Amino acid sequence: MTRKQPPRILFVCLGNICRSPTAEGVSRVLAEQSGIDVLVDGAGTGAWHIGEPPDRRMQAAARSAGYDLSGLRARRSVPADFDRFDLIIAMDEENRQELERIRPAGNITPVRLLLSYGSSGRRDVPDPYYEGGFDAVLRMIEEAAGALLDEIAAGRAP
Ligand code: 4NP
Repeated sequence: MTRKQPPRILFVCLGNICRSPTAEGVSRVLAEQSGIDVLVDGAGTGAWHIGEPPDRRMQAAARSAGYDLSGLRARRSVPADFDRFDLIIAMDEENRQELERIRPAGNITPVRLLLSYGSSGRRDVPDPYYEGGFDAVLRMIEEAAGALLDEIAAGRAP
């Protein structure tokens, strides 16, 4: 019997050193804990931090909640991501618009905002890089990622 391929999900923010690596690392752990088969990755629309590990402040917030982000490295989102992933999740509206700019012609991969899942009532995950609030961002991402995984497990996403 052939097994269905696990859904491939890409989380995207601006720098790929705060919000999207958190979404990636948290989702990987939550999926494993719930026995949900998914492949997750992260990328940033900007090129400033390519090759760098997640911001130390974000890593510290994640670590205190039980998530190890130290092995992740930043990369930039590219048009080929639209063919490699089944669902692309943007952290804010600006990221979503940047992704739409590089979408290959004819591609129909869904791009959704992370906070369209869960019950935060917000549209965007705030960018903590200049403003801080890393613990709040971690909790926001954790709640929405859990809700996204519930949708996947129920067969309602991607
Ligand atoms: P992120 O945060 O998009 O959540 O990774 C940022 C990280 C770096 C910069 C902006 C946002 N930056 O301008 O260098």
